[in-house]
Amino acid sequence: MLLSVQNTRRVAVPMLWRHMNDGKQRGQRQQLNQKYPIRTQIVQQSTAVHVKPPNVDNKSYVDILDAEWQQALPYKAIPGLTRFQMWRGFMKGGDFANLSMNDLLLKCRERFGDIYRMPGIFGQPPSIVLFNLTDFEKVYRTEGVWPVRPGGEIILHYRSSRKDGFFNETMGLTAHGEDWGKFRHAVNPILMQPKNAKLYMEPMQKVNSEFIQRIRDIRDPVTLEVPDNFISDINRLSFESVAVVALDHEFGLIRKNPDSKEARLLFDSLTTFLNALYDFGVKPSLYKYIKTPSYRRFEKSMDTIFDITNRYANEALARLERNPAKAGQERSVLEKLLKVDRKIAIIMAMDMLMAGVDTTSSALTAILLCIAKSRQKQQKLREELLKVLPHKDEHFTIENMKNLPYLRACIKEALRIYPLAFGNMRETGADLALSGYRVAKGTRVFMTSNMLLNEERFFPRAQEFIPERWLRQQDEAMTESEQLMADNLNKFIYLPFGFGPRSCVGKRIVDLEMEITLSNVVRHFQIDFNYSTDNAFANHFLNVPQIPLKFKFTDLNY
Ligand code: HEM
Repeated sequence: MLLSVQNTRRVAVPMLWRHMNDGKQRGQRQQLNQKYPIRTQIVQQSTAVHVKPPNVDNKSYVDILDAEWQQALPYKAIPGLTRFQMWRGFMKGGDFANLSMNDLLLKCRERFGDIYRMPGIFGQPPSIVLFNLTDFEKVYRTEGVWPVRPGGEIILHYRSSRKDGFFNETMGLTAHGEDWGKFRHAVNPILMQPKNAKLYMEPMQKVNSEFIQRIRDIRDPVTLEVPDNFISDINRLSFESVAVVALDHEFGLIRKNPDSKEARLLFDSLTTFLNALYDFGVKPSLYKYIKTPSYRRFEKSMDTIFDITNRYANEALARLERNPAKAGQERSVLEKLLKVDRKIAIIMAMDMLMAGVDTTSSALTAILLCIAKSRQKQQKLREELLKVLPHKDEHFTIENMKNLPYLRACIKEALRIYPLAFGNMRETGADLALSGYRVAKGTRVFMTSNMLLNEERFFPRAQEFIPERWLRQQDEAMTESEQLMADNLNKFIYLPFGFGPRSCVGKRIVDLEMEITLSNVVRHFQIDFNYSTDNAFANHFLNVPQIPLKFKFTDLNY
């Protein structure tokens, strides 16, 4: 596909937008295009083309992108799979048939290099896979005010085909464009403001104390190890912590009602939903044309999630309408959302459960594994906590949680060692030269930033859990490689919560949840994990724990 300037559509970054729509600018670009026509030779080698960066002196970002575009090779020259190879690869016995998503991406990287094409089949758009930090930066910096994150088409498909038309007015945070923009604008002030964290602090601590007690209930009295299926308890904790915010309700799944059938059904449905993101978002599927058996399973799981959350959200809303907050009393998150709009409150609750439960479970597992495998770091963390909270039952407050840098560094490092997914996705918000090739606005790109987190060139001693890398104030005892990190980190490699206006809306909630859980567990127990952590996570779209999580929890007496 040869692209002329006429293909250049708007870039929604305000500064960029002005430039792109400026007639003079467009004229200049046309002249430039005529003067320097696109080279059309096909690149034979399988690695990215390295275009000399333009001289950036006195140039705006737009000028730089423009200049790069002039030099870039055409889109068609990007190496990659043909439609037939893609289709054949996923068929029984094919190269990709049983590969996880990450393995698929890596296998193709070996074949084609740090940029490659994946063709779209059966109505899916084609995608470009990127392993280059400079490309991530360009994509994010030009994503505009309504960034498009593809990958949720299957959810949109389900929502738009519901017979009751529930989602007719809005598709929630899965939407794109103005619909997404309005929804996000309505919920951001409630979910993203740091001061609102105090609203969840108390309920989360209550849920967390239950979790500590649950560990004592279920661990073996002799070995002090929890059972193989401890992940189900972590799931319950994650669910309760999100539900207490999303639905203003404690389900009692951790201790009072741990074997609830409804919870089982909901967790299973969330798992089916997660697997569907890869099965229908990346693999070839005919779901847009016919309801395949796997689509029907997905649809059923979505119906279950819908029915359960809708019912509880409505109950919670009725309760709140009966007993609204009194004057001077702080309203809950749900109540605040309800004040904005009833439907927004319900859809937001669904989106929070769908996006927040398994992610939080994987993150908590990652943190516990890292800390259990490193006694010395665990002790260092305990000492930091004891300075601020000398008694293990002392309550956390926004104030006393403020100055715990090592706690935060431990969490960051655990999410580096065990990231939750391959990275992130966007539709490009402008015509861009990526790794030296022309990629038009509106192209679906996979940015595999999380797959670079274990590379030595970015993180020396990458396999080791070294929270110190993230500390701004470095101490003298740190080795050279530990010190290297905090100073020289590229801004576009470590983005566990995404980037820009579309970044994770649950970040405040999950930050608090991870901090409270880790602090609480480390205050109460010495944690060990006396087994191998090899292949601890299975990769679907999300990385989910797959080994028995037989942590040993020994009470601390102080
Ligand atoms: C450690 C746990 C979590 C991680 C690592 C995580 C990460 C992410 C990432 C990477 C994105 C995409 C951001 C982007 O496109 O730039 C995202 C989006 C989202 N997350 Fe999270 N998340 C976590 C927990 C949660 C929780 C607990 C909730 C809800 C309470 C939540 C709700 C959402 C929602 C609704 C979106 C879509 C936002 C939008 O498109 O506007 N997440 N998350």
